[in-house]
Parts: sequence; structure tokens; C-alpha cells
Amino acid sequence: MSGILYQVYPRSFQDSNGDGVGDLRGVIERLPYLAELGVNALWLSPIFPSPMEDFGYDISDYTGIDPLFGTDDDFDALIAAAHKLDLKVILDLVPNHTSDRHPWFVESRSSKNNPRRDWYIWRDGGEGGPPNNWLSEFGGSSWEFDSQTRQYYYHAFLRSQPDLNWRNREVREAIHDVMRFWLRRGVDGFRVDVMWHLIKDELLRDNPPNPDYVPGQQPYQQLIPLYSTDRREVHDVIAELRLVVEEFDDRVLIGEIYLPPEKLVAYYGDNLGGAHLPFNFALISSPWNARAVAKLVDDYEAALPSGAWPNWVLGNHDRQRIASRVGNDQARVAAMLLLTLRGTPTLYYGDEIGMLQVEISPDQVRDPWEKNLPGLGVGRDGCRTPMQWDSTPQAGFSTGMPWLPVSRNFATENVAAERQDATSIFSLYRALIALRRARPELALGAFKLVSVTDSLLVFVREHQDQRSLVALNFGREPALFEASGLRGLILLSTFMDRMDEAVSGHLALRGSEGLVMERLG
Ligand code: NOJ
Repeated sequence: MSGILYQVYPRSFQDSNGDGVGDLRGVIERLPYLAELGVNALWLSPIFPSPMEDFGYDISDYTGIDPLFGTDDDFDALIAAAHKLDLKVILDLVPNHTSDRHPWFVESRSSKNNPRRDWYIWRDGGEGGPPNNWLSEFGGSSWEFDSQTRQYYYHAFLRSQPDLNWRNREVREAIHDVMRFWLRRGVDGFRVDVMWHLIKDELLRDNPPNPDYVPGQQPYQQLIPLYSTDRREVHDVIAELRLVVEEFDDRVLIGEIYLPPEKLVAYYGDNLGGAHLPFNFALISSPWNARAVAKLVDDYEAALPSGAWPNWVLGNHDRQRIASRVGNDQARVAAMLLLTLRGTPTLYYGDEIGMLQVEISPDQVRDPWEKNLPGLGVGRDGCRTPMQWDSTPQAGFSTGMPWLPVSRNFATENVAAERQDATSIFSLYRALIALRRARPELALGAFKLVSVTDSLLVFVREHQDQRSLVALNFGREPALFEASGLRGLILLSTFMDRMDEAVSGHLALRGSEGLVMERLG
């Protein structure tokens, strides 16, 4: 659990059959790359049969493999090959909703007295409209009227993604069985999609208006999702998911949860019986400066229940690429931060080579969210473009036409080129991961804030008698850290030089430089 997690977005990682969409055989081909990088586990975004309206987050069969990605045999081969390389495999579990083409929903929708009617959230309308004012994250009401039975069903996302009713015991058991199915097949755990959405208010009370809403923001933000998300009863549901995972040795339960730290940490559960790792997205949404980052680390560390293991995420398939958000130079500082903080780091594919958000022209848009709400900047295609492996056509991703365009910079920014360049961001990531693996204090040690200014963040990681000091310059200008007793050796610079330089009394950093030093004094 203290290892490094790497998110693979299977559509965009490696295509092995030339159809322009990545697949499981492609992932198998690239496993040695992940081993070379030094990560410990890969998390695959959904690979199950799906109409792909939300690219796999709309599942029509929880226990199959979508033919686009391969076969059952390919999946077994992937697990075997990954385990051989000592890589764990985490699957995406999407229990909040299914596709409207899932047989469960087809049955549920067929009549009011179908035995699966209660597996989804059906209600009569109120006063000529939907049952309440809840909004879909992807725009519009979250209620869809079904003319056949003249009731509405609830969908937190697309109307083709009806929410399951987690108050129904049979639903719970059905998903538990899905989990057991994959755990028996050898998977090492799950990342649970939108965990904080699973239970909604029993009375379906209206959500209150958001006083901070500013026109131009996404419509979903008009209301505070007080009654539709983060309900107390969700923790009972998660405790049950955890028990299923515990039926097997050494498996992990990770939750996708977008909440502030004090609410997020509740997802570790009573007596830590909830998620092992409620994803911590604080770095994804924070302003990028030393004081803001120091504060969010402090807030998070302070909120953690005793014994809870922290984690940090820098990017994913729903958010802007880090290198575009903070710039290429600061992306190196971000890498050093991610890999020197206390807790499990999660890397998003391609961030290790500095991949940028790709501009998507209107005719190339694939993301349903962007299609629903054009012009609001919600589009996620730009962070899902094909992995840049080399300078051959389509960056070595596919021999066909990729489902999303390859970044224009692929001829120079790719794995093959950066592997040859000892100062590349890829070389930095490798060095950081190797350092973290070699020095237990960087993975396990206590975090102590030493100093923070507008641009400079300095902290120490300490485990038994080993101490590392990390200094990160969030500014473009040089910065100086002085401390009378400071003594040691530089282990790594984000510029990939200064190795073994002796430090005494002060540490001088160039603009946008990060340093790790072995602290002797
Ligand atoms: C969160 C996933 O990360 C996102 O990609 C998806 O659209 C929604 N959940 C709905 O499943």
C-alpha cells in the first residue's frame, strides 16, 4: 500500500491491433516499461463491456471484457505478466451506476412491479416536474422521465448512466459478487468510482442553492449537493466493500472522493474499516505556490485519523494535465513533491514524460460532458490523448487512426527520446522513484515542515536515523534557504545535476529548482 500507483487509461496507452484504441495486449507489451519506471501497481480505468458513452464508466456487464480491449484470456495473461514483474493490478469498480443497457436496468425499467424495479432509484414526479431539484454533474436535471412506466429515474451523470439503489440489499450483494469474481481472477484491488455518491438522502430533499455560484461556472455548482452525496450511511456501504476485499489476502480498496480534507478522511471509516486509500486530490485543485501547498499538506496531515495511511494524486483522466497547469519547469517540482510526500503517490500515464493537455478542435470532441456543456472548459479529451512512445507515426501508439489526436509535440516529447536524455523529466521521474525506493524515510518517514516563504517550501522526512531534506522553489527566481546547522549532500536536483554536492549552512536553488538532500546535520 505504500508503493507507487500508476493510472493507465486503457484506450490511450497502447493499441496492439491497429483499430486506434488501446487494448489489453497493448498494456501487456508495455508492462516492462512500467517495471523500468519503477512503479508498484497499475490501475486500469474500466475495461468492461460498455456502450462507451462515458468511455467505460457506463458498464453493461460487470464481469466481462469489452471486445474493444480484448478477451478474457488477454485479461488473464495481463494479470500473469504483471505479477511476474511484481506489478499489482487494480481494477476500476463502478458501483454507483450502470449503463442503461445493463440487463438489470432493462428489467428494472420494464414495469413497476419487476423484481429489479427497486435496484434503481425510481420516483413519481412532483408538480409536473422531476421529484426534486437535484442536478446531474454532466448538466441538466438528474432525473429522466420514462414514458413507459410514467416515473423518473435518477442519474448523477449521463441519462444513460442510471444510479443503482444502494439501499437495496440485493444490489449490494450483486456488486459484492462482482468484486469476488475479479478478486478470484487475481486482481489486487479496486479503485471505486465516485464513492461519495453511493447513498442519497432517503427523503430526496432538495439541495440548497450555492451562495458562491458565479454565472459561467458549471450548472451543477448552482446547488450544494448536500442531500445527493456524502451521506452518513455511505460509510456502512463502504465498510461492507472493505469486508469483501478482506476476504482475500493483501488487496486494496481505493476510493474516488472529491471532498475537502475534513470530510475526505471520514472515508477511512470507523476504526479504519473503510477505504484503505480515499484518493486525496488536494494537489489537483490547489493554487500552485509554496504557501498554498504547505497549507494543504498541513491540513491533510492534521485531519488524518491515527494510523491512516496518506496518499497524493497529481493528475487523472478527468483533470487538466499537470504540465499544462503549472508549466514544464514546475511540472518537475511537482514530480519531486509528489514523490517525496508521505503516503502513496498516484501517477497519471504520460505525466512522467511531461505530456501536455492537447487542444481538441470542436469536430474532434469525444467527451460527453464537453458535448453537453460546450465552452465551459469541462472537456476531458485533452488529458486522454495517446501515450507518446516514440517519434514514429502516431507516436508508436497505434498503426491506425487514434481515437483522439496525438499531441503535436510527440516527435521530441516521447519515451524513446527522453530515455536517452539524462536530464529529461522522464529521467527525473525514474531517479525520484529509485530514490524513494532506496530511502525508506521518503516513503514512510514523518513529515516535518521546516520553512515556507512565498516561493520556497522546505521540509524534512525522517525515519529512524535517516533524514532527507526537500527544498522546492515554486518561483522563477533563485531562492536561498539558510540554517546554521545545515549539513549534507545533494541526492537529486530537478535539473538532474549537482549530485553529491556538499551543503553547509545554506542551500541555493535556481528558479523552479527542487532538491533532495541527505541531511547529516
Ligand atoms: C468519475 C470518473 O473518473 C469519470 O471519468 C466518470 O465520467 C464519472 N466518474 C462517472 O462515472
